[in-house]
Amino acid sequence: MSEQAQLSTDHLLGIKDLNSADIHLLFETADEFKEVINRPIKKVPSLRDITIANIFFESSTRTRISFELAEKRLSADIVNFSASSSSVNKGETLLDTVNNILAMKVDMIVMRHPAPGAPHFLANHIKANIINAGDGTHEHPTQALLDAYSIRERLGDVAGKKVAIFGDILHSRVALSNIFCLQKLGAEVMVCGPPTLIPKYISTLGVRVSHDVRQTLAWCDVANILRIQLERQNIKYFPSLREYARYFGINKALLDTLDKEILIMHPGPINRGVEITSDVADSAHSIILDQVENGVAIRMAVLFLLAGRRK
Ligand code: CP
Repeated sequence: MSEQAQLSTDHLLGIKDLNSADIHLLFETADEFKEVINRPIKKVPSLRDITIANIFFESSTRTRISFELAEKRLSADIVNFSASSSSVNKGETLLDTVNNILAMKVDMIVMRHPAPGAPHFLANHIKANIINAGDGTHEHPTQALLDAYSIRERLGDVAGKKVAIFGDILHSRVALSNIFCLQKLGAEVMVCGPPTLIPKYISTLGVRVSHDVRQTLAWCDVANILRIQLERQNIKYFPSLREYARYFGINKALLDTLDKEILIMHPGPINRGVEITSDVADSAHSIILDQVENGVAIRMAVLFLLAGRRK
């Protein structure tokens, strides 16, 4: 890789802390890594002197595998930690757990945690670089970066585009990080879902709010469709999944009523037949698997640029 410019931060805690120059630098670096991961030999030696611990206190498929592959493609040494099989079960605190991992000469921590602010807490108490892989209902910065990068790849630019985020905005860390990222890049954002799943404060962030799926689809260039996060809901926010699918699910018949084509996105995991039907998820307009592919290049860019701040 060429001589690198720098990010403005030592950690990736949230998109809120990045400026637009940081995001453009991450995208330009990801462009180079996307070329690397499509070569027959998908590896560069950039992080061969860096050790990274992936510590996951919540379930994950995409983020966990994507970070691990990104680290391996950069030749980092890695260790994986799963809370369910660790001494956290014996009462060890988060800070003690992480300090013990760092005592084994780990340089960077990638962490997913159910508590909003957990990575910010760590960043105030330890020296390693922290990358937030999702903190409760707060932020999921690498998801927002890969989402915006995928829009840029398909539509040429994010600036000026109209992006609608559908679904369970109230419990979604993807929604908040996407709103920050898209706005910093000059997109217009609308959120759409049942009133019970849209937090009151959201309009103070400068986004439009709608409860009408048809009107929102007619407005947007891009539909980013989120799942209902039942695991975070301890009360009923709507009568049934069947009713949700009927009034807020996105299906081909709805898209066929539009006089334009829109890009279909979903961060995964998908609940087919609830927020999105298979004929939409698997359609030619869907870039859901491109998002997953781009996640590796974006995470390589994040790790590479944060490691560059250590030199
Ligand atoms: N999009 C996302 O964060 O997926 P996982 O929960 O599988 O990592």
